[in-house]
Amino acid sequence: MSEQFAARVRADFPVFERQIGGRSIAFFDGPGGSQVPRQVGDAMRDYLLMHNANTHGFFATSEETDAVITRARENMAAFLNAPSPREVVFGANMTTLTFHLSRSLGREWGPGDEVIVSQLDHQANVAPWRRMAEDRGMTVHVVPFSAETYTLDLDALERALSPRTRLVAIGAASNAIGTVNDVARAARLARQAGALSFVDAVHYAPHRLPDVQAIGSDFLACSAYKFFGPHMGILWGRAEHLERLTPYKVPPASNASPERWETGTLNHEGMAGTAAAVEWIASLDSHGPGNNLRASLERAFRAIHAHETELFAALYAGLTGIPGVRVHGSPADGMRTPTAGFVIDGVSPDEAARRLGAEGVFVWNGDFYATTVCDVLGLSDCGGLIRAGIAPYTTADDVERLVTGVRALARG
Ligand SMILES: Cc1ncc(COP(=O)(O)O)c(C=O)c1O
Repeated sequence: MSEQFAARVRADFPVFERQIGGRSIAFFDGPGGSQVPRQVGDAMRDYLLMHNANTHGFFATSEETDAVITRARENMAAFLNAPSPREVVFGANMTTLTFHLSRSLGREWGPGDEVIVSQLDHQANVAPWRRMAEDRGMTVHVVPFSAETYTLDLDALERALSPRTRLVAIGAASNAIGTVNDVARAARLARQAGALSFVDAVHYAPHRLPDVQAIGSDFLACSAYKFFGPHMGILWGRAEHLERLTPYKVPPASNASPERWETGTLNHEGMAGTAAAVEWIASLDSHGPGNNLRASLERAFRAIHAHETELFAALYAGLTGIPGVRVHGSPADGMRTPTAGFVIDGVSPDEAARRLGAEGVFVWNGDFYATTVCDVLGLSDCGGLIRAGIAPYTTADDVERLVTGVRALARG
């Protein structure tokens, strides 16, 4: 079943024609950026070669560009279950959008106000809030992460909240070790304390379909290049905030929301690609193309989840069965994404990544900007982690190649 699914997926990815040592590449680098299906590349190429223009002109290519942008917003609204496409903001990447939003939010806050971040988060969901807090004289509280359970202590979040808390920034899933957080609870706690909440769904979105209404946060950000699209970031914000806040922008640019948040001329081809990535995911719906994109995405994600869970169980069992290998993260059946962060006794993560890469097994090494995760795990001074992520195109053979490669490295 899983192999059939992977075969159907792989047929859409030209990159599997590439070979190293006579074999296709086993891509476990998805948490750093996924591979891209032909449909996404075609949409970007078609936009650039046939429809390229700036917006709001009275000629065909400009009108077509406006339509591309509208479709990208609609598709992302379906992907996030946003109440309106007017709540979807596009930008260079999640980090840039988060710095942008943090500056606008900070204008309303000052000394004595507080912001809460976490030890489990990528720096993109920490540094913007710390910089804002520095600029505004605010206090930063940090929710701890446990090196035993690999989870965030949400009770500590509850205790850290005060009437002066203005914002809680939390990740939906850890890009280093895969932990999935109960962000709905975090958003609820923030709301009860009168604070806003910002969710980083960059690592979550390729594996589980986000639902901003179920999460109940005020903002959520993700990146299309992690879910089979181009290098683009997406910010969702409740309309009331996007309309009320004052973004940094040039005066002649539109005051309408969400355009007022999108500085300069956007990456239109990236938006065409992002729209196509959402449609490509929906095409994995076994019911075939329907006219309800969200329903297709829900079914497609169920299939993705089943596939990834099955292969991750094999990967986790394989890695934990090797003497000298330690997987840092929740068990395979825990609240997690199919991303394994692990270490091999006596082999540095960069050496492991180099040797596996030479054999066509691509994994990442380092701290992946999740710097405090590696600090808490005591791994910052020894090169961090080796990271392997399962994707819809991963096969059982890929997993076997990785486990065999790690076993050989561990034997020395
Ligand atoms: C969990 C997480 N958050 C944020 C980011 C930053 O995303 P971007 O590269 O779009 O700025 C990443 C990138 O790896 C990530 O994994």
